[in-house]
Amino acid sequence: MDILRKMPVEHVLDRTRQNTLKRRLTSWSLAGFGVGVIIGTGIFTLVGVEAKAHAGPAVVVSFMIAGLVAALAALCYAELASAVPTAGSAYTYAFATLGELFAWIIGWDLLLEFALGAAVVSRSWSGYVANLLDLPAEWFGEQATVNIGAVFIIAVLTVVAVAGIRESSRLTNLLVVVKVSVCVLIVVAGLFFVRGANLDPFVPPAKPAEAGASLVDQPLIQAVAGLEQSVFGFGGVLTAAAVVFFAYTGFEALANLGEETKNPKRDLPRGLLGSLAVCTVLYVAVALVLTAVVDYRKIDEGAPISAAFQSVGAPWVGALVGLGAITGLTSVMMVELVTLGRIGFAMSRDGLLPRPFSEVHPRWRTPHRMTIAIAVLIMLLAGLVPITELADMVSIGALSGFFIVALAVPVLRRRNPELERPFRVPLSPVLPVVTALACLYLMSNLDVFTWLRFGVWLLLGLLIYLFYGRRHSVLAHGAGKGTGKGTEPGPGMKDGGAGD
Ligand code: ALA
Repeated sequence: MDILRKMPVEHVLDRTRQNTLKRRLTSWSLAGFGVGVIIGTGIFTLVGVEAKAHAGPAVVVSFMIAGLVAALAALCYAELASAVPTAGSAYTYAFATLGELFAWIIGWDLLLEFALGAAVVSRSWSGYVANLLDLPAEWFGEQATVNIGAVFIIAVLTVVAVAGIRESSRLTNLLVVVKVSVCVLIVVAGLFFVRGANLDPFVPPAKPAEAGASLVDQPLIQAVAGLEQSVFGFGGVLTAAAVVFFAYTGFEALANLGEETKNPKRDLPRGLLGSLAVCTVLYVAVALVLTAVVDYRKIDEGAPISAAFQSVGAPWVGALVGLGAITGLTSVMMVELVTLGRIGFAMSRDGLLPRPFSEVHPRWRTPHRMTIAIAVLIMLLAGLVPITELADMVSIGALSGFFIVALAVPVLRRRNPELERPFRVPLSPVLPVVTALACLYLMSNLDVFTWLRFGVWLLLGLLIYLFYGRRHSVLAHGAGKGTGKGTEPGPGMKDGGAGD
């Protein structure tokens, strides 16, 4: 059963000890970095799209449900990240606990999540730029055949990522302040324009899907139960929860910073949970205000929040929000591109992806090949595929990753009971199992088409693993048997993404 061979935990820790990354982050800088990477398209764009398509004002509840599941997943992440602080995050934990095949699947999912995530954010960026500068929707909006704005921004940021230019810690902090301030501005300014009538009905009653909607557009759970295809109602709230789960993704990037954290065992869990708590409060408040300011049926899908303020005669608030959103979204894409490079680097270092991907650029010290290859894919998708379809894929990729992470917690406790675990998920194994089931349940509320595409992605990954990774894995060559020899040390990359 070589596909289930495991990377010894000692080996992972050994390799971490050899790394050349500087330990400089604290729980505060992690929490700041977390808020910076989490807040983005989810709250600036998807909130409107999902209120209009699936949940009405009850999108507020969708954000609460998604936030709860994200917090559960973060607890599981926090235990693993504090016990095995390393670059590569969930991918590495799975390698040490569930075995190589699962590690590959999770790494493959993470690539999907971050690559498509960057594509989603670039389209949302383009929508806000178009709204602010009054650019033609046929080139910059969701109706565009090829979304030029999205392709442009990814191209620019790829050059920045490859050149190893990253935000200084000052800029990172400034961006966090900008994002949080924009959310506070939306809530405070919005309070002057709320109309109670817009919140009624809070949960729009379920109604049959529009004629022409095919079976593949139906949530999987409805299709399996043989229910009539419907939108809105409580089912709609759950579908929206599954999609807006996107808004919380990105906190895993924190777990990647274990090797750069001063006291990872204490600071990682604090950073993870702290940033999620801040984001949940802001999301719920913004969603409530947006749906109270504008009738959910009239929400604009390109730049929902700016357009909402324009529609009530406060265009200057809309412009300020637009500026903040554009700045904030740029930093989300930047972190996503950098994270992609790192995950690809870890997978290549372990032999599951071709070796050249883990060679760092001689001058810029960045995993340039991986970053460029993925950026080309992102540009294609960002140019051609609608935002909702991309976001669905990100959510299913992230949720399936968390499903495995949750199960890895009790498995690692049994396999390596001796490991020091400064942070322990309470009530294990009950809570991790509940987390895994919650992730699965949210996934089942995504549509059949998303499941089909995800199935194709997994199948493709499986084929690559069987015909490439299994043979080239460092474990196939006797490495990883506890000493840490036979593999390369850390990269010494200078693109940490979290600033100095
Ligand atoms: N959570 C990030 C966003 O909403 C990816 O844009």
